[in-house]
Amino acid sequence: MVEKKKITAAITGVSSYVPETVLTNHDLEKLVDTSDEWITSRTGIKTRHILKEPGKATSDMATLAVNQLLEKKGIAKEEIDLLICCTVTPDLIFPATANIICDKAGLSNAWGYDLAAACSGFLFGLETASKFIETGKHKKVLLCGFDKMSSIIDYTDRNTCIIFGDGGGVVLLEPNEEGMGIQDAICKVDGSGREFLHQKAGGSLKPPTHETIDAKEHYVFQEGKTVFKFATTNMSQVSADIMERNKLDSNDVDWLIAHQANKRIIDYTAERMGLPKEKVLMNIEKYGNTTNGTLPLLLSDFEKTFKKGDNLIFATFGGGFTWGSIYLKWAYDANKS
Ligand code: COA
Repeated sequence: MVEKKKITAAITGVSSYVPETVLTNHDLEKLVDTSDEWITSRTGIKTRHILKEPGKATSDMATLAVNQLLEKKGIAKEEIDLLICCTVTPDLIFPATANIICDKAGLSNAWGYDLAAACSGFLFGLETASKFIETGKHKKVLLCGFDKMSSIIDYTDRNTCIIFGDGGGVVLLEPNEEGMGIQDAICKVDGSGREFLHQKAGGSLKPPTHETIDAKEHYVFQEGKTVFKFATTNMSQVSADIMERNKLDSNDVDWLIAHQANKRIIDYTAERMGLPKEKVLMNIEKYGNTTNGTLPLLLSDFEKTFKKGDNLIFATFGGGFTWGSIYLKWAYDANKS
């Protein structure tokens, strides 16, 4: 009897998009009481990209990246089975932004839905999407991580406007029989942390009214110091846990792909994992925190750096609270294609 090979879900392509308009720390100095020096030293951020064009939304950025990826891979639109869009800034409350992307990109055979887990959305999405591949039911799944954070940011609040930016990326997941792709995942939530990072109004708890708008309750609210403490503790712990569970030491890990919220949180996580800074990928200085966009933006920016078989550890922390880590074996050499 021929033994059936185990199917794993591998990332086989990536693409990204950030809008053209750049908002620098010096631009922010004109909007709020802050300085380039403060922002750089406290967060590591220098610039972020902002989607300014009227009438453009999360789906428009994602559609551009999806089209680019399909073209790059030479895949027909009809071949896509499923598209999941991870976002906290959907075009509309409903229908799902995934549906809109499928329509705009012409993915006529795909079904889809949105996944919301704040800054851990893309990582939770990887875990979720991988199951559709592992069962053998789906052959080509697109996982988008995109946010138009500028649509929910108050540019008079120095606690939040310095951090966030717009953009994101998309990955293609396909079945692999060589043992590449997602090896293990740990996903966590603690809803009691919701009070420290949330959007107060616009949902069923507080539908929009003139009062909620006057009180600026449709913007991101964050108690930065508390979030910082939970983020450093939990992101570093979960990354150490996934290494231990898979018997990996720092020599076995090739790259840390961490959510780009604050350089100090990433440095702390890397230190806890025992990783030298050469293995810690960062682009926070260019894009700031793009929420669901940070992980695919890292994969896209550093795609040519990865070699087939490299061990990647993903780590995130976000509002909710949500956090997690994924251990993935990279499946291809972009350099050779
Ligand atoms: N420019 C200048 N000063 C600022 C400022 C800004 N943009 N924002 C805050 N400050 C001031 C504060 O008012 C405070 O002044 P005080 O000491 O006189 O009260 C001082 O700087 C320190 O503020 P604090 O909030 O303690 O700074 P911090 O070192 O914690 O940095 C964040 C603030 C937001 C950068 C940091 O807390 C952070 O990154 N938090 C987590 C963010 C995160 O990961 N969020 C998303 C999770 S997905």
